[in-house]
Amino acid sequence: MSKKAFVKSYGCQMNAYDAARMADVLAEQGFSATDDVAEADVVVLNTCHIREKAAEKVYSELGRLRVLKAARRAAGHDTRIVVAGCVAQAEGPEIFARAPTVDVVVGPQSYHRLPELLARSHETRARDTDFPVEDKFDHLPARRTAGISAFLTVQEGCDKFCAFCVVPYTRGAEVSRSVAAVVAEAGTLAAGGVREIGLVGQNVNAYHGLGPDGRPASLADLIRAVARVPGIARIRYTTSHPNDMGDDLIAAHAEVPALMPCLHLPVQSGSDRVLAAMNRRHTGDAYRRIIERVRSSRPDIALSSDFIVGFPGETDAEFDATMRLVADIGFEAAYSFKYSPRPGTPAAERTDAVPAAVMDARLQALQGLLDAQRHAYQRAAVGQVVAVLVEKAGRRPGQVAGKTPHLLAVQFDAPMSRIGQVVPVRIVEAGTNSLFGEAIGTAVAA
Ligand code: SAH
Ligand code: SF4
Ligand code: F3S
Repeated sequence: MSKKAFVKSYGCQMNAYDAARMADVLAEQGFSATDDVAEADVVVLNTCHIREKAAEKVYSELGRLRVLKAARRAAGHDTRIVVAGCVAQAEGPEIFARAPTVDVVVGPQSYHRLPELLARSHETRARDTDFPVEDKFDHLPARRTAGISAFLTVQEGCDKFCAFCVVPYTRGAEVSRSVAAVVAEAGTLAAGGVREIGLVGQNVNAYHGLGPDGRPASLADLIRAVARVPGIARIRYTTSHPNDMGDDLIAAHAEVPALMPCLHLPVQSGSDRVLAAMNRRHTGDAYRRIIERVRSSRPDIALSSDFIVGFPGETDAEFDATMRLVADIGFEAAYSFKYSPRPGTPAAERTDAVPAAVMDARLQALQGLLDAQRHAYQRAAVGQVVAVLVEKAGRRPGQVAGKTPHLLAVQFDAPMSRIGQVVPVRIVEAGTNSLFGEAIGTAVAA
């Protein structure tokens, strides 16, 4: 019987990518993937440290795993428990102290060493949270098939040091992979049936990897190179910082057909004072001007963003500035969070916390506005004919599910043979989280 590995990922797309690569590493060691944690010989929790709730979730999960591991041991099976990702990086030895059930702790830059850490863990608990000199990408096995849409990490780390954020500490300094390495990985993915690639990085538009001419390439250059990979029909990228929104990237939205008309550009707040206190290094107006430039390049672009409410010292008037910015710009989608103090970040030192009840009320108001915008955006799609990239079986038998260029989820009746194709679909109804449509005409290849 083959050994089995269960890998669960929390947090951002970069973590999702790392989880897929850890599954690749384990597959090379003879582990097949399982969705059933109870039958897993290796359990990997790929953790996120961004907010306290995310980090604490890991420990409750480990509590459940301790019981499972004991039950499996009683039945004569060994289980290795691995904590990977940003909590591993940030809390390292503390994890061993708090959770005796954990065998291996491995950081986001060292998971190519998972096989030796697992081997070592039979003698002693094994930890590797270094930022190794060798490049993990050079030591990872080739990627296995990843479905129709796959993430590809092109840039890691962050040098921005926003006052609230742990990423510069958990992921380290900003590094970009070379254009050649990204194009090669995109080629492997395309050969395995992938049609859409999400280029991901903590600050993806700060990308400056080595180009074919020996000079640094921009994200726009990289997008143009990936667009030439045969089989790749759609390209997306996330997450971007407003200050790195270059003219060539904005132009690419008008010029590269494979680049989808979506931009996730976190703004966090609409108040200039709060933005300065957050060390975001741009104003609300600067953000508005970027959006104008993007919209003049690609008028139908779908915008999404991230918001934090209740940053220390945020007043009612400052929160209102955020509401105004949202009302002025209009977002297709957004993530909004209550500020969570993170150990080691400058903002965590502040003593002017916003009371919990005020934070709750602000989050509710902001989410109400963002939800209304999202629903209006979805309703506006009804009656339109859109190109849907079919990714998987739909919710009901006979249905398939896919995404529009604007990243709206669509369900419609079609045979499973449509998976991987781009199908013109007329939208007939907007549900809460999904659109419903009917296929018209025949599928097109791309
Ligand atoms: N690199 C991206 C975002 C990374 S983290 C950027 O620059 O925007 C994803 C989101 O989590 C952030 O955009 C922010 O909205 C939120 N976030 C980060 N730290 C947080 C904290 N301490 N409390 C609440 N939300 C936080
Ligand atoms: Fe965090 Fe700011 Fe870097 Fe984004 S830009 S990862 S919010 S420090
Ligand atoms: Fe979380 Fe680390 Fe991503 S903290 S958001 S998993 S970079």
